Amino acid sequence: MTDSYAVIGNPIRHTKSPLIHTTFARQTGQDIDYGSLEAPLGGFAAVVDRFRAGGGCGLNITAPFKLDAFAYATELKEAARRAGAVNAMKFEGDHVIADNFDGIGLVNDIQRNLEWPIKGRRVLLLGAGGAAHGALLPILEQQPAEVVIVNRTVRRAEEMRDQIATRGTLLATGFAELPHAHPGPFDLVINATSASQQDELPPIDTGVFAATTLAYEMVYGKGLTPFLRLAKSAGAPRLADGVGMLVEQAAEAFLWWRGVRPHTRPLIEHLTVPLA
Ligand code: ATR
Repeated sequence: MTDSYAVIGNPIRHTKSPLIHTTFARQTGQDIDYGSLEAPLGGFAAVVDRFRAGGGCGLNITAPFKLDAFAYATELKEAARRAGAVNAMKFEGDHVIADNFDGIGLVNDIQRNLEWPIKGRRVLLLGAGGAAHGALLPILEQQPAEVVIVNRTVRRAEEMRDQIATRGTLLATGFAELPHAHPGPFDLVINATSASQQDELPPIDTGVFAATTLAYEMVYGKGLTPFLRLAKSAGAPRLADGVGMLVEQAAEAFLWWRGVRPHTRPLIEHLTVPLA
């Protein structure tokens, strides 16, 4: 029997997940069906209950339901627990096992695809929302020399720092204080704010970029965002958006569900919007 999976979100019409997972399934010979579900706000649990009752095996979770999924789970894997958010679920009888592959997807894209090792490097993380939370621990696990979290609302950056036990290399500040408190340049600057969704630019000093910086935009498919444009004009030699992170997190979920690791590179190439 064909196993059934889907992505759930609101809105969901622009999702790339069905394309990604059906491509993975074809490539690996897995017999799955992968669709998309739009749940009304406040209606996450009812839609998931119905999907499970119909025999659904697993879901990917996208905005704004990553916290609802966290609450819905009966068993949280380490990465989901630590990120405080869930982006993939597996259903086994009454059990709802939940994980979060966003952070590992990001790290795999940066280190494997972009060949930019994090160990020993200075990392600047812009933002302290859900996306930044998912990224922080997987980045720290790579043993960077230092991670500075910078956020518009400084308190949120400080709370994020304070939640982590190993604080030696983890710092938090606001955009105005950054150039004095933790002067650039950084080897890796990740934009995990949602500013680019509104075509906005976080108030970032150009001194964070240098001729050795990878500027990584988590948003994907928008070409040169204001953040990437700033990085380029400040001389950052490498620019990337989140298309690789999207495909890599999907590959981790696929491996978890099906026990086979798909190839990601052809799909990343297919989905890439040129950064020009
Ligand atoms: P997500 O789940 O996408 O991370 P979120 O949890 O709402 O969304 O967090 C959005 C992040 O983007 C926050 O860090 C937010 O800063 P505040 O905590 O100060 O609100 C940041 N953000 C959004 N728009 C921004 C802008 N124009 N400039 C700088 N930061 C911005």
